[in-house]
This record gives sequence, structure tokens and C-alpha cells, in this order.
Amino acid sequence: MLICIPDVLSKSDVAEFRRIMDAAGWEDGRSTAGAQSALVKRNEQLPPDSDVARALGNRIISALTSNPRFVSAAIPLQIFPPLFNRYVSSDGHHFGVHVDNAVRGDHLTGMRIRTDLSVTLFLSEPEEYEGGELVIEDNYGSHEVKLPAGHLVLYPASSLHLVTPLRAGMRVASFFWLQSMIRDAHARSMIFDLDSAIQSLVERLGRDDPETVKLTGIYHNLIRYWAEV
Ligand code: NI
Repeated sequence: MLICIPDVLSKSDVAEFRRIMDAAGWEDGRSTAGAQSALVKRNEQLPPDSDVARALGNRIISALTSNPRFVSAAIPLQIFPPLFNRYVSSDGHHFGVHVDNAVRGDHLTGMRIRTDLSVTLFLSEPEEYEGGELVIEDNYGSHEVKLPAGHLVLYPASSLHLVTPLRAGMRVASFFWLQSMIRDAHARSMIFDLDSAIQSLVERLGRDDPETVKLTGIYHNLIRYWAEV
């Protein structure tokens, strides 16, 4: 399931991110790629251990953990320190079809996670570049994603995906992975649907409606049943 989360960062946050990133040093994106993906990856990234990447990454994580729709969709256990990449049309940048590594380790923090969900947070407006669509393949076909700056897409890390070649401009994004408390994607999706329905009922009937309270209890009991913490 693909889930888009709007307005994770404000436009002014995005502008500040871009100013800081423009002034930073960039390196070949293959430094963080697995053996298969290194063969098809052509882009640049901020050095993952750099102060700039860590500081901006921490801002993203705090924005995410206070975003109810993100938390409801991902039920995150651990979020990998966000990475930052850019694709430049004049350099023929693209990222061919690949699958993300199943396990990711961060040597600075010692964090090691199973990558359940992949995240791309767009930091360029769609008008700033041509091409550069994120294409994600799932059981229902292949989906092209290009979102406004500050919005993100969550998608299964197990899916094959690619970034089409840039034809003009520059595409800047943050990308990272997370381990969810709910490993099973189907269970996670049902819990998200249930939560969305409960939130709509709360708006119509109020938080103290007896049936709403009962459904909220079921929501928590399903998490209790499935969560690995
Ligand atoms: Ni990938």
C-alpha cells in the first residue's frame, strides 16, 4: 500500500533545508547502496554521517513523530536517520529498478532496523524538474509518484522501485526507512483503515460516544495483539 502524507514540512522549512543543502558538500550516491542497487544508482547524496545530514534528519524525525497521519500509517518502532539525495538532469542521474536492503545499520548510533517501509520526502516542487518520478511496483501494478515539496510517500520496502531519468532541472529529496511495530503489512493496513474510520466517527459523534470508545478499545487491542516492541 502506498500512503501519501501531506505537509510534513512547511514551505518555509523546505526553503531553509534547500539553502542549507545547497551550501553543503555532496558525494556519489553509491556509498550507501547495496551491491545490486549500486549497479543502477546514479545520483548524489549528502554524506550520511555529516553534521548537516544529521541535523536536518533530526528535524524530519521530530516533524514525523508529531504527525498523526504518519504515526497512524507507519506505527513506527524505529526510524533510520534520514538520508538526502539529488538528481541533476545534466549529469544523467536516475536510479534503475532495485529493492532496498532488508536490514540497515547506522554505525554512529548503533541502530539496526528491519526495513519494513521506505519513505521519500520530496524537497523540490514538481515544476522544478522533468522526469524523476518515483515508480513503485506492487501487486496492483506500477505507480508513479511525484509530490509537492514537503510531502512524503510511504511504501513497502519490499517493493521493486526506481527513479526515472531527470530530463530537466534538479530533484532533491530525503529518503529513509523505518521498522514498524506491526511487521505484517496487511495487518498494518487494516489497523490504519480502522484508525481512519474511528477518527471520522470521533468528528461526527465525539470522543465519548460509547461505540466510538468500544472501537478505540478494539484498535488498541489489535495493536496489542500484533505489536513487536
Ligand atoms: Ni530504493
